[in-house]
Amino acid sequence: MSLKILDSFYEGKAKTLFHTSDPTLIVQYFKDDATAFNRQKFGQIVGKGVVNLAITKALYKLLESKGIPTHFVEALDERRMVSRKVEIVPLEVVVRNRVAGTFAKRYAVAEGTILPAPIVEFFLKKDELGDPLITAEAAIAIGLATPHETAELDRLARKVNEILKAFFLTVGVELIDFKLEFGKLPDGTLLLADEISPDCCRFWEVGTGKKLDKDRFRQDLGGIEDAYQDMLKRVTGG
Ligand code: TMP
Repeated sequence: MSLKILDSFYEGKAKTLFHTSDPTLIVQYFKDDATAFNRQKFGQIVGKGVVNLAITKALYKLLESKGIPTHFVEALDERRMVSRKVEIVPLEVVVRNRVAGTFAKRYAVAEGTILPAPIVEFFLKKDELGDPLITAEAAIAIGLATPHETAELDRLARKVNEILKAFFLTVGVELIDFKLEFGKLPDGTLLLADEISPDCCRFWEVGTGKKLDKDRFRQDLGGIEDAYQDMLKRVTGG
């Protein structure tokens, strides 16, 4: 593909996005920068960008093969991914299998409690408000999505959960929870967007419960780079 990378148009916490010579495609550059708690904590996780792109690529291929549409087109190199240009839906979609993170705090329920069935939550993507929890009804009422779209987000998120939960168990990892983002094509089609990586999932090693994700950074547990490399090996076999 003779795609020209043009100017950057968005500097995110973990990725920088670039326009390209094809107006329907963008390039995402995966950085090593890490933030947590709405940028109150920041640092670097060496090699993170490479790990997150490789894991995202492998998981998007798996999900595509199971009928989940994604924005992924191809990886140009270790840190740059070509993806379809989409309008990001301003909702973060979180799926939880076990209690952790903000769910544990919000309801004072012990971390690790197994939920009887997966829970899907929506959060409003708005840094200045601290990304608050939002109901589907409120999201529809303030014009962020249609009833059909919120139902589709819920349905797709649950399907992604079933596929990923089963996959991770084959590599000795329990998928505790994760966050998805979706984008819309000009014709309104919803695609899975952003990344799926240890930055936006909680992974616990089966048997030991060892955390193999960004909680090591959030909670200063040490061994962060090793955990990311461990996940890379498990997912890509490399
Ligand atoms: P939470 O327990 O902090 O709400 O997080 C739930 C999941 O979503 C967890 O796997 C981490 C991920 N997540 C993100 O990827 N980005 C975010 O901004 C937040 C708050 C959570």
